[in-house]
Amino acid sequence: MTQRILFTGGSGKAGRHVLPWLASRGYAVLNFDLKPSEHAQIPTLVGDMTDAGQVFNAMTTHFGFGGFELGQPPAPVDAVVHFAAIPRVLLQPDNETFRVNVMGTYNIIEAAMKLGIRKVVIASSETTYGVCFAEGDKDYHAFPLEEDYDVDPMDSYGLSKVVNEKTARTFAERFKADIYALRIGNVIEPHDYARFPGFVADPLTRKRNAWSYIDARDLGQIVHRCLQTNGLGYQVFNAVNDTLTANGPTADFLRQWCPRTPHRRPLVGEEAPISNRKIREVLGFREAHPWRQEVAGLKAG
Ligand SMILES: NC(=O)c1ccc[n+]([C@@H]2O[C@H](COP(=O)([O-])OP(=O)(O)OC[C@H]3O[C@@H](n4cnc5c(N)ncnc54)[C@H](O)[C@@H]3O)[C@@H](O)[C@H]2O)c1
Repeated sequence: MTQRILFTGGSGKAGRHVLPWLASRGYAVLNFDLKPSEHAQIPTLVGDMTDAGQVFNAMTTHFGFGGFELGQPPAPVDAVVHFAAIPRVLLQPDNETFRVNVMGTYNIIEAAMKLGIRKVVIASSETTYGVCFAEGDKDYHAFPLEEDYDVDPMDSYGLSKVVNEKTARTFAERFKADIYALRIGNVIEPHDYARFPGFVADPLTRKRNAWSYIDARDLGQIVHRCLQTNGLGYQVFNAVNDTLTANGPTADFLRQWCPRTPHRRPLVGEEAPISNRKIREVLGFREAHPWRQEVAGLKAG
């Protein structure tokens, strides 16, 4: 039977790529967002995740008028992908960013668990690694950045994502559910590849992103693989592409630009400083959009 997915935040930058990716793989997808999506063929329920009642309803609604032909009220969705958020600092006051992100995620996970939904994928962030929105030039503890890192942001957005990971862990433990938190790197849409030659020319501008990125379409593949993989309980996965956004090898590059930061294992070739080894080994992720190929494509086009 077709799996029914509630996708929050599908009208945003990442969601507008991930939403159609999932729809094209045979899922029935309902977008839940404050605003409609550009994909008119995918239904949107306009609503606010900070209202627990609206979240509960979003997980138990028909996706369209066709649902009424079934002759019974809809069952809860099969899985939830939760991307809705205030996606960085300086968009709204810090306490509002924290409130919306933390309470929104709490409402989503609690409703899913209490409705018997056993798979939730949530958007965490590279900012948990503590450098992205740090005051001043902060060093990472060690390279590569792997999922067992002692996350230590000093900003309210990064903190909201750390709290959300704890919320996910708490509910996964209590309800014996699969909740996977994706530490998403800087999201790159196809037109963003025009910026990459500048990244290479001026490496320090990308330290806050740990010289890593995720192609928005490859993020679709990662979410899809999370939906297809079951039984792992609570998990954190870095969600980034394979290579660093500079000229490698990575070990030499990092020794030049971060001389005080130790390497906890040998860095392989041009691997991204935020390691994606876990999604490759556990989920079977294979990147389809390496940045050098995308930049070459832009030049050819
Ligand atoms: N863009 C990045 O580089 C990046 C990096 C790491 C993590 N993330 C995370 O990935 C997710 C998607 O990011 P994005 O760049 O697409 O952000 P975005 O702002 O473009 O999209 C977020 C969507 O969430 C919706 N939303 C906000 N508050 C809501 C609420 N109260 N109720 C319902 N919907 C609400 C917005 O309307 C928007 O469409 C977020 O969780 C973000 O924190 C993004």
